[in-house]
Amino acid sequence: MSYPNLFSPYTHGDLSVPHRIALAPLTRNRAVGTVPGPLNAEYYAQRASAAILVTEGTQPAADGQGYLDTPGLHSDEQQAGWKLVADAVAEAGDGKLVVQLMHCGRVAHSFYTGEQPVAPSAIAAAGEVFTPEGMKPYEEPRELPTDELARIRDAYVDAARRARAAGAYGVELHAANGYLLHQFLASGTNQRTDGYGTDVAGRVRFVVEVVKAVVAEIGERHVGIRVSPGHQFNDMSEADARETYDALYAELAALDLLYVHVLDTSSIVGYDVLEQARKAYPGTLMVNEGFTQEWDVDGADALIADGKADLVAYGRRFLANPDLPARLEAGAELNEPDDSTFYQGGPKGYTDYPTLANA
Ligand SMILES: Cc1cc2nc3c(=O)[nH]c(=O)nc-3n(C[C@H](O)[C@H](O)[C@H](O)COP(=O)(O)O)c2cc1C
Repeated sequence: MSYPNLFSPYTHGDLSVPHRIALAPLTRNRAVGTVPGPLNAEYYAQRASAAILVTEGTQPAADGQGYLDTPGLHSDEQQAGWKLVADAVAEAGDGKLVVQLMHCGRVAHSFYTGEQPVAPSAIAAAGEVFTPEGMKPYEEPRELPTDELARIRDAYVDAARRARAAGAYGVELHAANGYLLHQFLASGTNQRTDGYGTDVAGRVRFVVEVVKAVVAEIGERHVGIRVSPGHQFNDMSEADARETYDALYAELAALDLLYVHVLDTSSIVGYDVLEQARKAYPGTLMVNEGFTQEWDVDGADALIADGKADLVAYGRRFLANPDLPARLEAGAELNEPDDSTFYQGGPKGYTDYPTLANA
């Protein structure tokens, strides 16, 4: 088996990568006390052959934390931890490290933050979140007043500045999977009447403001964004996904971002979301199965060949195969991911998956 398109180089502006395979963002809950350490650096360095390494969701502000031991990027100590990671990746390969900025919004929890979560509107998510004390129901969030939006926006800007200072190539703004920026986009979670809700133009407004503010700080070529049109994860609902993302892409099209990263939620919304993005956004597109599709690697290769994507992000395959590009290129067998070690723990199921060379 060979994948000529996945293994073709890609160049756009000043981005130049030798193949199309990216590491998808994967929360692993192993940044003890929210600070990345040597074990995390080793894990990312092992995957430095990715074209782009998108990191686990990282809170840009303390009130964005929703899970145990997810890293932050809002303190000097956390920034120093990310420098460890960036240095280790740079030492190990050419992959570009991109820190995913994930503010959990209404699915943050006071167990982790010590305060009531914030969100576009005071609508709790149905469901429960893991804590070391057991599962706890999601809390009713506090609606962000209009004059507090700048604080949140500036937290993304500051985290992006810190990411670059730590040596990362850029950041990915997490506007997918039911986290804060997605909560602004979605009709089910955004009932604001202050110009940041009500209709499609209002619901995309805060996300666009955050993108532009981060771009102003670190440059458009260093900012990506992840979206999942219509995704229902985290109790989300979007009445008008097609119109919402058309409006968002129309705004993003004025910027030449590092990439727009689309989860293939076509089966949920009933139209081709990759085609939609391609039509509406002229720059680099990264795509991922998003738990709603199962592409085999031939299918991913065909997406590149058909012009539907420029880059393909792999999550679980890359989790279990630190040398995934080399394995695919060699047509070698893949290690199977062990989902009992996805979240929390130490090196087991994290840094001990064998490469081909030491299998
Ligand atoms: C253990 C695990 C953690 C994840 N954490 C994140 C995350 O922090 N941010 C995010 O955007 N997606 C996250 N995802 C979703 C993945 O990025 C990806 O969309 C999903 O795994 C489907 O792609 P795959 O079939 O290549 O694994 C996570 C998935 C898994 C399995």
